[in-house]
Amino acid sequence: MTAASDFIGRPIEQLPTPAVLIDVPTVRRNIARMADLAQGFGVELRPHWKTSKSAQIARMQVDAGAVGLTAATGAEVEALVAAGFTDIFWAYPPVGPHRVATAMRVAQQARLIVGVDSVASAAPLSAAAASAGIEIEARLEVDSGLGRTGVDPADAVTAARAIAALPGLRVEGVFTHEGQVQGVGADPERRTAVGTAAGSVLAETAARIRADGLELTSVSVGSTAGARSAPAVPGITEARPGTYVYGDENQVAIGTIDPADTAMTVLSRVISTERGEPVLIDAGIKAMSSDGSMHGDGRFGTVVSPGGGVLATGHEEHGFIRGSSHLRVGDLIRIRPNHACGLTNMHSRVFAIEDDVVADIWPVLGRH
Ligand SMILES: Cc1ncc(COP(=O)(O)O)c(C=O)c1O
Repeated sequence: MTAASDFIGRPIEQLPTPAVLIDVPTVRRNIARMADLAQGFGVELRPHWKTSKSAQIARMQVDAGAVGLTAATGAEVEALVAAGFTDIFWAYPPVGPHRVATAMRVAQQARLIVGVDSVASAAPLSAAAASAGIEIEARLEVDSGLGRTGVDPADAVTAARAIAALPGLRVEGVFTHEGQVQGVGADPERRTAVGTAAGSVLAETAARIRADGLELTSVSVGSTAGARSAPAVPGITEARPGTYVYGDENQVAIGTIDPADTAMTVLSRVISTERGEPVLIDAGIKAMSSDGSMHGDGRFGTVVSPGGGVLATGHEEHGFIRGSSHLRVGDLIRIRPNHACGLTNMHSRVFAIEDDVVADIWPVLGRH
């Protein structure tokens, strides 16, 4: 069997398929551009790490000025600490004994800020921290319109006051994930309006909490689709975009990322043309993830190599390509995924490439 490291220095055509390819120069450009954007708005950058789960990417982001990283799962938080990162925002309610235990462990090794949206979600961590005699930083999540987790802005002052009164926690800020901006789709003016509204809701909420007597340091927004609008609102101190680092077809579909700035593709091989159309490839939903498409046609991916086509549907290890009837058995194609973050979590490694030659192999950390 070929050792993975033997592929370094080889052209991508020699890789086993399906393989996730990450174009390093594109990643570097995306990281530099987002760092400039945040600096221009006068906000700190704390990229969401779930997009890459790569220590190499995290290092590039921190080297480009990020103040720390954001994570969604306990496994991501632990992987970041193990990789030497020391300033982590866990943007997820610490509910369940396993999450409390992880937060307690990590808070004693690194700076950890934990997202909470209610007394109920904060109380178990508060009790654990108080009984260990430590204080953990908490950020109150505010629902700025996505309708997921987060306190209603109208209830935020009461919630912040109640959480601040809990022992073992210190409320250091507020945050929101303005995912509703992506949901707006391909209308740039509406996206700007919705992103600005989300930033304004959060900034106003922070002002009311401060007027109630609580000191807040961080007022944090976060999304790729809202990265040009929400952090521009006065009072916002931090941005947490994630997807920007690789880009994906859903961002391309709504116009928030240029196709030339997408770094992630899946290299796949045609395995059968017996149906004529569709052509069968070796990237099914286990390679591509089944994240939905913003194109609205149910596709699982978009062929970006010459000839085009779409990954119309997939079984576990079989992908069905439509619009590529020129393909022959054994041909290689490259597919841009709908959603970069979902794709990353399907794989245990990615191939970092430059000029279509393998430059490095990056483990995907903290998957479970
Ligand atoms: C809490 C939180 N912050 C930031 C982000 C980053 O958003 P995006 O991937 O659109 O850049 C996400 C993504 O889901 C998130 O859930």
